[in-house]
Amino acid sequence: MSSLYRWFLAVHLIAVISWMAGVLYLWRLFVYHVEAKEQIVKDTLSVMERKLYRFITMPAMTVAFILGVSMIVYNPNLLNYHWMRGKLALAFFMIGITHMAGAVHKKLIKGECKFSSKTLRILNEVPTLLMIGIILLAILQPF
Ligand code: HEM
Repeated sequence: MSSLYRWFLAVHLIAVISWMAGVLYLWRLFVYHVEAKEQIVKDTLSVMERKLYRFITMPAMTVAFILGVSMIVYNPNLLNYHWMRGKLALAFFMIGITHMAGAVHKKLIKGECKFSSKTLRILNEVPTLLMIGIILLAILQPF
C-alpha cells in the first residue's frame, strides 16, 4: 500500500468519524426539537442543527466520499469484492439518511415537521445500524 494510499485511507477515516458524529447527533437534536415546549429552546436547537449539518456533517461526508472514490479509482480491483459492494450499498443509504436530515431540519425551522419524537427516535437508530454494518464489512471483509 503506497504512502499516498495510506494518506487517503487515514483522511477517509477522519472524515468518516466526523460525519458519523454529525449524523448521529443531528437525529438526536431533532427529537429534542420536537419535544421542546419553549420557542427559545427550539430556536437554539435550530442554530445547533444548522451549524452541525452545514459546517461539520456535509463537509465531512463530501471528503469521505471523494477519498473513498479516489481509493477505488486507485485500486479498482476493490469492486470485485462482495464486502466492498455491500459496504458501498450501505454507504449509499448513509448518504441518503444524511440528506434526509437536511430536509427534516428545514421542515423543523418552518414548524412543518410531521414526524413525532417517537418516529425520530426510530430514525435516529438507522445511521447507527448502517455504521455498524459498514464497519463490520470494511474490517472483517467476510465475503
Ligand atoms: C461514502 C462512501 C464511501 C466510499 C466510496 C468508501 C470507500 C472506501 C474504500 C475504497 C476503502 C479502502 C478499502 C481498502 O483499501 O481495503 C475504505 C476503507 C474504509 N472505510 Fe470507507 N467508504 C465510504 C464510506 C464509509 C463509511 C460511511 C464508513 C463508516 C461508517 C467507512 C469506513 C471505512 C473503514 C473502517 C475503512 C478501513 C478498512 C480497512 O482498514 O481496510 N467508509 N472505504
